[in-house]
Amino acid sequence: MTSSPSSSVQQESGKRAAGEAALDFIRDGALVGLGTGSTVKYFLQALGERVQAGLRVRGVPTSRETAELARQWQIPLLPEQGEWELDVAVDGADQVDPHFHLIKGGGGALLREKIVAGAARTFVVLVDHTKCVPVLGNPMPVPVEVTPFGWPQSAKQLEALGGVPTLRKKQGTVFETDGGHYILDWLVDSIPDPVQLEARLNRIPGVVGNGLFVNQTSTLIIGSPDGVQIKHPSS
Ligand code: 5RP
Repeated sequence: MTSSPSSSVQQESGKRAAGEAALDFIRDGALVGLGTGSTVKYFLQALGERVQAGLRVRGVPTSRETAELARQWQIPLLPEQGEWELDVAVDGADQVDPHFHLIKGGGGALLREKIVAGAARTFVVLVDHTKCVPVLGNPMPVPVEVTPFGWPQSAKQLEALGGVPTLRKKQGTVFETDGGHYILDWLVDSIPDPVQLEARLNRIPGVVGNGLFVNQTSTLIIGSPDGVQIKHPSS
């Protein structure tokens, strides 16, 4: 399904609203996980402007792309191989269900994103209103990050669970993550139990990460042209 120009303009303004609203969750002195994607870019821009006005933060980027943007915005970064105790991680998502479970990894940064979200006391998720769905799944595939060695074996095991895995390509060549892995975009009709499926995917040999983020969201910011809605799993 293609979106009309006006719906993509609305989506963009939702992304911007969510990205800017996330600044309210950043305190002076905070250690911040910096997510990846077009929604997070708005957050990085707003954060960068605040940093240049004197806010003190240090960030851990979840991708080379985000590291580059952070440097452009003069956001200081922590060493990649440090032992971080982050106050907050801020990231986007491809789908969110009513229980705040997510599909992430459309941008291919899922492994680092999950490590960084897991190292943070709170995980703030930014989406525009089009990302909220009653049940995770089709049309959004679950990205599954696998080792290049023997990847067809991992793909076969995904097929055995149902659904269709497709090796991700970019401009005709196999897409490689920042960690040098491949991604199988695994299209599943619907995912009524993401918690169980997330654990199941991790048991497949060769799988190093998957794009189901379950029970991790602390705060969900939903942006739309009318502003933002802020939700917490307990509310
Ligand atoms: C990257 C991600 C992104 O956060 C997700 O794909 C959403 O991206 P966007 O904000 O561009 O829609 O998980 O790996």
